Amino acid sequence: MTPNAITVRQARRDDLDAINIVEAGSTPGLRYVARVFDDFVSDEVGEFSVAEIDGQVVACGKFTVMPDHSAWLETLRVLPAYQGRGAGKRLYERFFEVARREGVTTMRMYTGVTNLVSKGLAERFGFRLAGTFRGAWLPLEAAVGPALAFVPVTDPARATALLMPHAPRWTGFVVMNRTFYALTPILCADFARAGRVFEERASGSVVVLGARFMPEQALHIGMYAGDTRACLDFAAHLGVTRGASRVSCLFPPAAADIQAELTERGYRLESADFIVMENGSAQHA
Ligand SMILES: CC(C)(COP(=O)(O)OP(=O)(O)OC[C@H]1O[C@@H](n2cnc3c(N)ncnc32)[C@H](O)[C@@H]1OP(=O)(O)O)[C@@H](O)C(=O)NCCC(=O)NCCS
Repeated sequence: MTPNAITVRQARRDDLDAINIVEAGSTPGLRYVARVFDDFVSDEVGEFSVAEIDGQVVACGKFTVMPDHSAWLETLRVLPAYQGRGAGKRLYERFFEVARREGVTTMRMYTGVTNLVSKGLAERFGFRLAGTFRGAWLPLEAAVGPALAFVPVTDPARATALLMPHAPRWTGFVVMNRTFYALTPILCADFARAGRVFEERASGSVVVLGARFMPEQALHIGMYAGDTRACLDFAAHLGVTRGASRVSCLFPPAAADIQAELTERGYRLESADFIVMENGSAQHA
């Protein structure tokens, strides 16, 4: 092998320790790989990939196929000592190879609004800004509130009819675990089947709640509409019931009303906004 050549391959189970070191060095404030590793490494549709230099794992990245057959690019991390040497670009090239293999035509990723390298890297591969989001969260130390009359919406058509009209207000995305799902009828159907859509007919309210992973850490509000107070009370109720330590919601900062509704209910704002970028043919609201 040429010294310093970068090779990319599918991650193996015995890469966990090396990937943990990559994550600890590159995103010390955001560590979750160990918690999702089994799912990531056993993904046979997408791929958890690693980049090696001189036989050492120096980077990782995950290509995940979403319900609408778009791809979500996540967990891209390069050991600080190896940043700027092309490992990130090699992993993007791998993502495009996997996309071709799987017939995926739209890919998305998110990053912090101040992460110019991550944004620039995505732009280099043709990604364009698709939205800006702000995080808010409510700690759930409180006792369980009263049970509210929300029921799961399991019928895909009803979930679609309830959620799609609100796509513009949420700028076309619902977010869980910082995973940005394009709000489409396919997603509505998928979320209905997964038990993530709840309605309260009396007040005409609908709320998307769930966790893609680590449910004990947070219950995520994907979106809500109708009676805000009822929706947020139900979210807190369900979060406590499920043993989550917080409720989290990412919303478009352009929706000043959502920010006011959340902060009035005690939600705290995350310190920096996020951007979602996309490449491909899909249109979002
Ligand atoms: C972001 C990250 C994955 C990039 O990986 P990397 O191996 O350092 O990047 P590469 O050397 O392959 O590519 C760098 C490319 O980024 C872009 N870039 C770098 N610095 C940039 C800047 N200041 N502004 C805009 N674009 C920039 C360029 O396109 C550059 O390629 P080029 O110089 O050939 O044009 C890596 O730096 C990292 O792990 N950072 C910490 C974790 C992180 O931010 N992860 C992603 C989001 S959560």
